[in-house]
Amino acid sequence: MSFIDNVKAKAKANPKRIVLPEGDEPRTVQAAAIIRDEGLAIPVLLGKADAMASVAASTGTDLSGIEMIDPATSEKAKAYAAALHELRKAKGLTEDAAAKLVADPMYYGIMMVKMGDADGLVSGAVHSTGDMLRPALQIIKTAPGMKLVSSSFLMECPDHSLGADGLLVYADCVVNPCPTAEELAHIAIASANTARTLCGIAEPRVALLSFSTKGSAKHELVDKVREATEIAHSLAPDLALDGELQFDAAIVPEVGASKAKGSAVAGRANVFVFPDLQAGNIGYKITQRVGKASCFAVLQGLAKPCNDLSRGCSVDDIVSTVAATAVQAQS
Ligand SMILES: CC(C)(COP(=O)(O)OP(=O)(O)OC[C@H]1O[C@@H](n2cnc3c(N)ncnc32)[C@H](O)[C@@H]1OP(=O)(O)O)[C@@H](O)C(=O)NCCC(=O)NCCS
Repeated sequence: MSFIDNVKAKAKANPKRIVLPEGDEPRTVQAAAIIRDEGLAIPVLLGKADAMASVAASTGTDLSGIEMIDPATSEKAKAYAAALHELRKAKGLTEDAAAKLVADPMYYGIMMVKMGDADGLVSGAVHSTGDMLRPALQIIKTAPGMKLVSSSFLMECPDHSLGADGLLVYADCVVNPCPTAEELAHIAIASANTARTLCGIAEPRVALLSFSTKGSAKHELVDKVREATEIAHSLAPDLALDGELQFDAAIVPEVGASKAKGSAVAGRANVFVFPDLQAGNIGYKITQRVGKASCFAVLQGLAKPCNDLSRGCSVDDIVSTVAATAVQAQS
């Protein structure tokens, strides 16, 4: 069974209520119908009723049985606005501004998750990553014990000798542009957790990546990755984790054996932590386009699951991300 089929099977076993704020977007509307038909989750679409109906008609999609809410006329809008004002008044948010924000489907959807009226949210087919992330970070906040929100890209490669039977977890390719050593350590631990809980990788082996392997190059950027490795070791002593490693030393057994002798991770890594967002984002796109990997991203560290789509996403990408969000919501 492929990785994504596994995720879908888990999602089906305990369907969660997932809100889709971009309810008048054609791919989202089509995905909602598939999610309903396959029983992967209980989708809720947000938007203007006539706009959603017109997209459904133009794409030939039957939306019967799918809950649709217009934030501008919803009976819950007042309560959500009051709760949002309470949460953000110390940051200068007025009652009026809170009411205006809640009329925006993105904020309404995030408030549904915050208030327990939805188990998770998926958005980003239209909104930029920053526009999706900001309300999630401001309102949902980090889970207890988590220092920051980051992301894992789940890369399913055609070559099953790589990573965990072809599955590679890449982090952070979405959220933190320039993580400190301490933040990198937290990203490493959170990604190992995602590998375990979402991907079913029983033994995550985490490589903190650099352009140097075990002191082969001297530079302050290398020092940062080494420091991150030390912090991660002290925070999670039982986790198989090593750095700094070059990508080839992390993934190719022979190179790992020659460049990082005795490492429990080198040559066998399945979780790869990039030193910053530029490296991570470029790295996942190379693996996707040149390495022909299929991929999607999940956010980790949020108190409740909210996930971002690429604006170039397909209907299938939305379905997969909703299934993954539902699985995150189960735990
Ligand atoms: C995530 C991001 C949107 C936050 O940046 P920002 O809008 O400048 O936001 P701020 O730094 O003002 O932070 C807003 C809130 O989020 C919180 N926050 C920011 N980054 C966070 C993180 N990684 N984890 C947890 N909370 C975070 C801040 O503490 C702040 O909370 P507060 O308002 O309650 O004090 C920004 O880092 C970003 O744009 N990242 C890159 C996203 C991107 O374009 N990715 C492309 C790859 S697809």
